[in-house]
Order: sequence, then structure tokens, then C-alpha cells
Amino acid sequence: MSLSVLILAAGKGRRMNSAFPKVLQKLAGRPMIDHVLTTAKKLTGNVIVIVGSQQEMLREHLAGEQLEFVEQRQQFGTGHAVAQALPHLSEKGAVLILSGDVPLLTDEIVSQLIDCGSRSDVAVLTSNSDNPDGYGRIIRDKEGKITSIVEDVDADDSQRSIKEINTGIMVASAEFLQEVIPKIGARNGQNEYYLTDCIKIAFELNKKVGSVVLSDALLGLGVNDRNQLAATERALQARVVKNLMRDGVTVADPSRIDVRGELICGKDVFIDVNTVFSGRVVLGDRVTIGSNNIISDSEISSSATILPNCVVQNSFVGKGAQVGPFSHLRPESFIGDRGKIGNFVEIKKSDIGMMSKVNHLSYVGDTEVGERVNIGAGTITCNYDGENKHKTVIQDGVFIGSGSQLVAPVTIGTGSTVGAGSTITDNVNANSLAVSRVPQKSISDWMKRKKSVKNK
Ligand code: UD1
Ligand code: CA
Repeated sequence: MSLSVLILAAGKGRRMNSAFPKVLQKLAGRPMIDHVLTTAKKLTGNVIVIVGSQQEMLREHLAGEQLEFVEQRQQFGTGHAVAQALPHLSEKGAVLILSGDVPLLTDEIVSQLIDCGSRSDVAVLTSNSDNPDGYGRIIRDKEGKITSIVEDVDADDSQRSIKEINTGIMVASAEFLQEVIPKIGARNGQNEYYLTDCIKIAFELNKKVGSVVLSDALLGLGVNDRNQLAATERALQARVVKNLMRDGVTVADPSRIDVRGELICGKDVFIDVNTVFSGRVVLGDRVTIGSNNIISDSEISSSATILPNCVVQNSFVGKGAQVGPFSHLRPESFIGDRGKIGNFVEIKKSDIGMMSKVNHLSYVGDTEVGERVNIGAGTITCNYDGENKHKTVIQDGVFIGSGSQLVAPVTIGTGSTVGAGSTITDNVNANSLAVSRVPQKSISDWMKRKKSVKNK
């Protein structure tokens, strides 16, 4: 049977108190709507997104996605939102209604609901929540049949004590929606057309109402305000970290790691506390990540170590290499196998060869460094002349003395040495020593100047 997915995303999101549409608030680094859309797209190519409030931003964000927009010009409620989509639905087939603010559903749960829907006219996804405040409550009769859903604001005390809540997700046949949605009225505490009223109407019309009850209420969390956004973020992170641990990663404290993208790990990886991973990050077997790192769009090869307090962006770290503490790998840095990047070192768009070391207080930018090179403390590649960037080449086996400046473009030949404190402006031949500092003088019997004392 054909399936369409409707995503409700036209609401104002007032409780978020934001200039942005609620469904663009980020969860694990991605707008909430993207999480919902990913679920939808796995099921069907027929995706309709209902937009209204602040729709320009939302349309712009979703431009290029294969989906249909339906406008709900004024936001008169979830039932009214679905009514706008009725002319766009095919006459037959199933319609899954997702909410742009319920982002944690898993594919399995959604399939279960669709399956339940195929055996009824309409099926709702519910959960038993310890904190049902704000949600619609599921009313069942003595036989356990769902007779209606009562919104929190319209519920009396006994209804409010019901723990079974509506997640806002349902599936129905297109025929059911075409028949029942137009019957929904707006006589309630919010003067809104509630989608949830279709359940009461279904019951009265003797339609078959099915339900799937979530065993894990966290999956059905709805995000109306920033407290719920934070709770949802934690629930999502907990899910990610659980999968990591299942796959053989040791996480020092599962509550202190943030994955805002895709983290792919080999075996026996160790991740200490407070690291933020974003974009696509790959960690090879036995990689160790110390505490307080920020790693985005990078690959760290097997047995490499990132010591605490580093920022690694769009870079590659080779096997057995060591980075940190306090290193910054800026985009397009490539650290070769067993290379070492140490304290307060900034690397940018550079290739550091195998077993080469930049251990202390240096800036290396637009540079090609060969193998087994040692770059002394406080070395700076002067890559920028105020107008253009230039390249530095440091060939295999070079030793750069501490406190040197290499003024690019410049090449330091294989096996050569730069004396400490040199400013190198010309190419250095292989196997030679280059020193550019002023010879030391000693002036004996030199007295420090004394401060003159006025008005004595
Ligand atoms: C809704 C349900 C409630 C359920 C809860 C689960 C109704 C009446 N209530 O309440 O039973 O427990 O979700 O999270 O359905 N929207 C529109 N157009 C509108 C109004 C809303 O597109 O006119 C969209 C919103 O953008 C949002 C979704 O529908 O994505 C739900 O709306 P919201 O106002 O958040 O409903 P809740 O009060 O959370
Ligand atoms: Ca909501």
C-alpha cells in the first residue's frame, strides 16, 4: 500500500521564545526537522511538510530536499494543519502524521505503528510518562479501547492524573482523514482544531482505533520549550553513547560526551570526559581521546592519542601519532604516523611527515614538513606577507632551532639545521647549517641607566 508522510511544522513555537522557527532549533547539531525528515525519507518519497509561521526560513533550509510544501496560512491547530494537506493526499493509501517537534522516534517504532495502522482506520503512538504535564491524555474504556484524547488544558483532574499520553504521531488511511478531519470543530480551551479530536469522532463512528505504546517514553518526547530541548538532547546523546559502548568503545562518563554528527569508532577506543565531536569523525582502533577536546570532521588513525584540551578541525592524524595537550589543528592539517604535536602549537593547512615533531609553542602554516623533522620551541612560519600566503618546505631530517622564523616562500634542504633564534629568508641547502642571528657581544663595566630624580 502506498504511504505518504505529513510533517506538521507550521506552529509558532511560542514557548521556545526565539526568532527562529521551533523545528530549526538544533538537536545534536542538526535542526530538529532534519531528524524527523530522515525518518520520513526512509519510508517514502511522498513527504509533505506543512509550513506557516516563519516559513521563509524553513523553506530555505529545506530547499533542495525532495518534498512538497503545503502552506497553513494561519495556525488554527494541528487538525487545521492536516486539513490543509487533504487536497494533496492521494485518495488511497496510508498517511503517517509526524510532528516536527517529536524528533527521537526510531525506524522500528514507526514501522510498528504503520503495521498497526494497516489493521485499523487510525492508530496512535502513545507512551506512559512519569511527567505527562502538557501532553494530551489517552482515554480508554473498560475494555482498553481508546475513546478519545483530551488535551492537557481541557482535562479535568481525573483525566490529568492519567499517565498515558499522546506522542502526537499517528497513522491513518487517506479515506479516514478525508472523512473525519472536516468534522473536527474548535470548541475547546484553545479554540483550536485539534487533530486529536479525530479519535473521539472515530470512536463514535465505530471506526477501528489502534495504538502502539512506547516501552521507552523518551522516544516520544516532544519539544515545546528549551527545557524539553535540553532533555531531548540528553536522551539522544544517551542513545548515541549506548551504541558506541555496544560497539566496543570505552566512554569514561556516558553523560559527558557530545556527538553532534557521525562518530565512527574502531575497537578499544577510549574517550575521556567532555569531548565534543561534530561533523563526521572517524577514530581508528585503540585511539585515546583525552578530556576536553573539540574534534570536527577529522580522522584519527589507530593507536593515536589526542591529549586534553585540543581543537582538531577537518584534519587527519596518522597511526600512533600524539597531539596535545593544548594543540590546535586547523583545517587541512595532516599529521603523519607517529608524529608529535605538542603544547600550544597551531598547525594550519600543513603536511607533517612521519615521526616529525612540533612540540612547543609554534605556528606552522601552509607548510610541507618531511619525515623525522624536529621543529624547536617557538618556531614560526611567516606565511603571510600582508597580501598573499606563501609556502614553506622543510625537508626530511631537518632540525629547526628554537625561536626561529621561516619567512615563506622558503625551502630548508634535507638534513640541514637552522640555528636557534634565526630569521630565515633564503633557501637553505641540504646538510648545511643556517644561522642568521647577530653574534653575541659582551660589553664589560656597563652600568644600567639610573632614573633621574627631579626637584631634589
Ligand atoms: C500536541 C498534541 C498533544 C500531544 C503533543 C505531543 C494536539 C492538539 N495536541 O500538542 O495531544 O500530546 O502534541 O508532543 O495535536 N502545528 C501546525 N499547525 C498548527 C499547530 C501546530 O503545523 O496550527 C505543528 C507544530 O509546528 C508542531 C506540531 O504541529 O510541530 C504540534 O503542535 P504543538 O502546538 O507543539 O502541539 P502540542 O501542544 O505539543
Ligand atoms: Ca509539541
